[in-house]
Amino acid sequence: MRAAQPRGSFYALVEDDLEELTRRLQDVGRGAHPTFAAASAHLFGSPGKLLRPTLVFLSSRFGPGARSRMIVDLAVSLELVHTASLVHDDIVDEAEVRRNVPTVNAVWSDDVALIVGDYLFAKAYALAAVLPKPEVIAMVAQTVFALCDGELTEVAAPSTMPTEAQYLERIELKTASLYAACCQGAALLAEADPEHVAALGAYGTNIGLAFQITDDVLDLVGEEDDLGKEVGRDLAEGMPTLPMIYAVERDGEATSLAARIVAADKDPAEIRELIAAIRASGGVQRAQERARRSRDEAVAALDRLPATREREALRAIADFIVSRER
Ligand code: FPP
Ligand code: MG
Repeated sequence: MRAAQPRGSFYALVEDDLEELTRRLQDVGRGAHPTFAAASAHLFGSPGKLLRPTLVFLSSRFGPGARSRMIVDLAVSLELVHTASLVHDDIVDEAEVRRNVPTVNAVWSDDVALIVGDYLFAKAYALAAVLPKPEVIAMVAQTVFALCDGELTEVAAPSTMPTEAQYLERIELKTASLYAACCQGAALLAEADPEHVAALGAYGTNIGLAFQITDDVLDLVGEEDDLGKEVGRDLAEGMPTLPMIYAVERDGEATSLAARIVAADKDPAEIRELIAAIRASGGVQRAQERARRSRDEAVAALDRLPATREREALRAIADFIVSRER
């Protein structure tokens, strides 16, 4: 399992913590219903980039309470929230592959995936509930509300192009809120200085925005093998993202491009044509620039923290997030 993980410099400082986290994740299904045990083994056999737990461990190092068991509990809890949300999201998206392996809904069924997601979420909350700080417990619950609000906004959205502001609000809820909770929650739990807790919250929100904008760019122009999931899904589903919003803004015949983007049930040729049109409009490039702006804001928030190796690692994560291909 470890061999499959990317090992860049920013993982090095928290290697031991990540090993402990990995063991805990692999144990999640132990003693539970055999279908949940099998689905958890399947999910945590290909664990992804582990960016969120890495952020928890690095952020905790800004307080005196780092390296305690409760920090690992928070990291496991938030990684379980993340995994639960992806299991449910894959039902919503009818996705068949994630992290280069078949999704729970594809291997088992939508019904099983629904309950596996619920189970993971309950496990996450059981861990969070016994943390010694009520404000961190509340933060985990608030984060799940935010994820649900973001996902509901996406699912219930009318078939029209959102504004840039509406898009940013949606991704702040569905993605950036969890990044912020990892950084801010860990610093709070480790009793970091309130100024540093706030700086880490701002950093987390901004790298979360940069992450999701980059994800939406990669859904248009990424390689399936690198990403480990199908590309072109957003267009296939008529889900407008930032590069598309910018493309429509530039387009002389804005209404027809917008209508083609939000249309459901496109064939592969139409998706290829739309990707070409969005690229030609500069929409992809402008979205990448917007992601870099959020990266810059995240890096600026780091100036409010002491200059440590952990701060350097957080900076490297911000750079990785906008330059990644997976
Ligand atoms: C992936 O986005 C999905 C999310 C970031 C949030 C999903 C949230 C829920 C399903 C709410 C339920 C939450 C819990 C805890 C049970 P994406 O579809 O843009 O990314 P993708 O391409 O990786 O699927
Ligand atoms: Mg999805």
